[in-house]
Amino acid sequence: LADLKLPEGFSWGVASSSYQIEGAAKDEGKGPSIWDLLSHRIPGLIADNSTGDVVGSHYWLYKQDIARLANLGIPRFSPSISWPRIFPFGKGPVNAAGVAHYDDVIKTLVEAHVKPSVTLFHWETPLALFNEYGAWNHPQIVDDYVAYAQFVISRYDEYVDEWFTINEPQHCNWQFSTYPAGEYYPAYDGITGGIQSRYLCGHHTLLAHAKVAKWYHDEFHGRGRITFKNSGNYFEPNTTSEGDLDAAQRQYDFVLGWFGGPWAEDGDYPQSLKDTLGDLLPAFTDEEKELIKGSCDFYAIDPYTSYTAYEIDGGSAACAANQSNPAWPECAGSVSLEGNGFPIGPAGDQGVSWLYDTPTGVRRFLSKITKELFPSVPDIVVTEFGFAEPFEGELDSLQTILWDLRRADYYQSYLDNILAAIYNDGVNVTGAWGWAIFDNFEWFAGSKVRFGLQYVNYTSLERTPKASMFQFLNWFKEHE
Ligand code: BGC
Repeated sequence: LADLKLPEGFSWGVASSSYQIEGAAKDEGKGPSIWDLLSHRIPGLIADNSTGDVVGSHYWLYKQDIARLANLGIPRFSPSISWPRIFPFGKGPVNAAGVAHYDDVIKTLVEAHVKPSVTLFHWETPLALFNEYGAWNHPQIVDDYVAYAQFVISRYDEYVDEWFTINEPQHCNWQFSTYPAGEYYPAYDGITGGIQSRYLCGHHTLLAHAKVAKWYHDEFHGRGRITFKNSGNYFEPNTTSEGDLDAAQRQYDFVLGWFGGPWAEDGDYPQSLKDTLGDLLPAFTDEEKELIKGSCDFYAIDPYTSYTAYEIDGGSAACAANQSNPAWPECAGSVSLEGNGFPIGPAGDQGVSWLYDTPTGVRRFLSKITKELFPSVPDIVVTEFGFAEPFEGELDSLQTILWDLRRADYYQSYLDNILAAIYNDGVNVTGAWGWAIFDNFEWFAGSKVRFGLQYVNYTSLERTPKASMFQFLNWFKEHE
């Protein structure tokens, strides 16, 4: 592997999202998003009760952050834009200060020769739209999102050659709505609680994405490529028994297949979802299926880890790949693919119990997606991968924090396996981006879970590259 070079034009860099790094939650006219509500109003919902109010303060420090990327020789950055900074109420009046801010961020990136790949929605649903009609649970969200997306794309397409409409719609609707608030604020529960709203949310994200993608190519004649980012991990059947094979397949159907319409011949949901979910799964019209089919220019996946899938108690046919319906048995256990792997965090308050260090899984997964699940995919980009130590948030010696050998090893091994997927398995992987540019707000797990390639001191806001950053950069130096 040491002598192999990445294919010409391979796109790489680092990624993050607005709420996780910007801070400045109430500054310069930003409207509230559901995450401002979730992080402030419900004690205990975020593991360490932290919020995105300040975090790395990238909103104010973007110039130095971009200069750092340029100095390190990182060619691409994948940030997201905050919808309620552009439209504080989700629609209606534009916030000129927010627009001026992103104008300058894009300009600064371009001048520094760091190419932006931009995500339009990374879970910051404007609270106003949630309060008005339940946001992603209501068909009105489609037009409101399309108007926002068109505004941003029209303004920056000259400088942006890769657009992601939605980050990981598979997280509908926990991260997309105030559903968790339902437990504490019953008023919210009616519109967001339960499995039905999960599939409604997914339905509307697909339509919103597809409408924007169609407009982008057919009317706007955009100069770049457009897709959405998938959340999904590799599932190795535990044995070749039919039950275990079915368990793995259910995982794929309910996670990737759910959003596989753009690659399906009929633009629709997999039959297994329709059979299992019945009326809980909304139906697309023929016109909508046509719209969805072919609406992604490439496949984007965030494959952090892998699991073994196995049948539990003779697992019923209704077994789903998620825990959204408590009545259904789980169909895959959280055991590491590697045997010698480990969950890198204890289950519970550190919130990373889902993450195992399974480098060979990513290689198999890339083949699985492009050869078996969606053979019409032209190329695939690993839009996020990364690692968090369970204890990193607790360490007090800066030297120990920066000497993050397990993360460094994770990056080295994952990248080697991506290279093997390209050369040994013939998969057309065209990019890979590390998560994250620096430590950031890890949603329900809070700020103690640190995914950064750079350490952030949350008091001084100083950033310091960790050993893993240099390992990551050296890997690309060797293979470019
Ligand atoms: C999300 C990120 C998150 C990362 C690590 C991805 O699913 O897009 O926002 O920080 O996983 O959990």
